[in-house]
Amino acid sequence: MRHISLRVLFLAAAARLALAPPPPPPLSSNHKSVLILGGGVAGIIAARTLHEHGIHDFLIVEARTELGGRLRSKRFGADGRQATIELGANWIQGTQVGDGPANPILALARKHGLKAVESDFYESIVTYDETGPADYLDTFQKAVDSYTNLTIEAGARVQRQTVDSTCRTGYSMIGAKPKTPHEMVSEYYMFDWEYAQTPEQTSLIASSWANNFTYDPSEGGFSDSNLLSVDQRGFKHFVQSEARTFLSPDQTLFNATVRTITHLDNGVIVTLADGTTISSDYAITTFSLGVLQNDDVLFDPPLPAWKQEAIQSMTMGTYTKIFLQFEDKFWFDTQFALYADTERGRYPVWQNLDLKNFIPGSGIVFATVTGDYSERIEAMSDSEVKAEVLDVLQTMFPNTTIPTPTAFFFPRWFSDPLYRGSYSNWPSGFVSPQHKNVRANVGKRLWFAGEGTSQKYFGFLHGAYFEGLDIGTKIAKCVHSATCESLPFVEEITNGTPYLV
Ligand SMILES: Cc1cc2nc3c(=O)[nH]c(=O)nc-3n(C[C@H](O)[C@H](O)[C@H](O)COP(=O)(O)OP(=O)(O)OC[C@H]3O[C@@H](n4cnc5c(N)ncnc54)[C@H](O)[C@@H]3O)c2cc1C
Ligand SMILES: *[C@@H]1O[C@H](CO)[C@@H](O)[C@H](O)[C@H]1NC(C)=O
Ligand SMILES: *[C@@H]1O[C@H](CO)[C@@H](O)[C@H](O)[C@H]1NC(C)=O
Ligand SMILES: *[C@@H]1O[C@H](CO)[C@@H](O)[C@H](O)[C@H]1NC(C)=O
Ligand SMILES: *[C@@H]1O[C@H](CO)[C@@H](O)[C@H](O)[C@H]1NC(C)=O
Repeated sequence: MRHISLRVLFLAAAARLALAPPPPPPLSSNHKSVLILGGGVAGIIAARTLHEHGIHDFLIVEARTELGGRLRSKRFGADGRQATIELGANWIQGTQVGDGPANPILALARKHGLKAVESDFYESIVTYDETGPADYLDTFQKAVDSYTNLTIEAGARVQRQTVDSTCRTGYSMIGAKPKTPHEMVSEYYMFDWEYAQTPEQTSLIASSWANNFTYDPSEGGFSDSNLLSVDQRGFKHFVQSEARTFLSPDQTLFNATVRTITHLDNGVIVTLADGTTISSDYAITTFSLGVLQNDDVLFDPPLPAWKQEAIQSMTMGTYTKIFLQFEDKFWFDTQFALYADTERGRYPVWQNLDLKNFIPGSGIVFATVTGDYSERIEAMSDSEVKAEVLDVLQTMFPNTTIPTPTAFFFPRWFSDPLYRGSYSNWPSGFVSPQHKNVRANVGKRLWFAGEGTSQKYFGFLHGAYFEGLDIGTKIAKCVHSATCESLPFVEEITNGTPYLV
């Protein structure tokens, strides 16, 4: 049975690849029931879900040499004084209130003994501007309230079934029109620092839903608190440990970069950068939206127009942390600091890791930039960026001679062909049926999962988790029964409803 269907599969593949068809792989060793493409949170949870459904004939194909994806840690610092820092995800965002709904990332972190500390976004913060220390916490507090009002304005629109708009329109409608550096940086902290794009670039309704479903228990969210991983095994520890509870070494293939995904009526053939081909009955693509947008992986035949249009219509934001280590700590004792530059988004948020319960004695402080500013600095050399950042520190601390840092590093997520940004964002003008299309399977064999396919939690670790779980469950059903239920998609979108409620 299987033998026959496989022959048909490879004949069909050869017919479609007009040029040199790949040699048929050794069928017995290179065929899997399910290929999971990408070993981030979505891929690992999809694998665990298959395992729990008694499906063990799967393979996780990952370009890097470890699992975790955008949970990416690095040893950083001068010789003899290194600490583990997080280049990617760092927080469990929204935890749990009482025995209410728990963020599944929190549950895994507890299970695997992850060391994480309460991050106090609103109380443990001091403010600076171009004159040095400057207390504008009252302006900051107003921006906190404005953000809440923005989500209420969005909810009212959902109620009235009006069209979506940008968050800039939303802010203006509630009377928040930041003009001064203090107002702009306060808004930035509440907005760009979360969505990695500006209010102009972001959907009012979708971003408010994402906020509420994560942070607002009265709206089905987990809690309004954030836990920062300071675990010296790396934040990835929780998901790598979870993987070890069920994965065997022959269920992962590392150092394996996918180049082409050939999807057919009866299966999938994946071609790696080194020319190896692997076939399967089903495949789940968990690559970031940015990877799908930039043709880093090719589909054969090309994805249908409805799928491509949807992928190109959602956006990928970039969130960049710039790490510095110094011999001695000379900065603030709070967890956070704001720096108000006349240019919005110029090295605005600073975080202190050299704190009791964090990474004491590490001498590490870092700045965050996002969106277009991230793209700008990725195009610059490290030393150019370092000079700018040290200049800002000198402005913040006018009476201190800023010493030479003992270490400096920032990751380039936007240029990295395995990510092409940090996480997805929902732009205004991107409508609900389009998001359905980002998520929908193409044919019966090719499926998609990852933070970007989550309507409620796009951008978050828990979004990736829930998508891996849901798509894994659907594929398990396909494997176990003759009928395989497809996700809905919309061939041609004519309806502008931003959210189907
Ligand atoms: C800087 C930054 C900060 C963040 N902060 C937070 C946070 O604090 N809290 C939070 O909840 N979320 C945060 N996120 C988002 C979170 O990290 C992601 O939502 C989540 O990790 C995505 O998981 P995923 O499985 O969908 O995708 P990924 O983790 O991207 O997994 C996909 C995998 O595919 C691999 N891959 C890509 N291309 C190929 C190829 N061609 N062949 C083979 N393998 C390939 C990648 O290496 C990767 O391992 C942050 C992300 C970044 C980058
Ligand atoms: C990955 O490839 C590199 C370079 O080709 C090699 O040095 C390394 O050992 C490989 N790692 C794994 C886990 O296969
Ligand atoms: C938020 O909305 C409330 C209720 O309408 C209002 O009293 C308050 O002034 C608003 N806050 C800001 C900062 O706009
Ligand atoms: C978000 O939550 C607030 C309550 O904090 C609610 O008033 C509003 O309607 C919600 N917004 C959306 C878009 O659901
Ligand atoms: C810096 O020094 C000047 C002159 O001594 C003083 O007036 C000012 O308050 C100092 N600023 C800070 C932030 O310590």
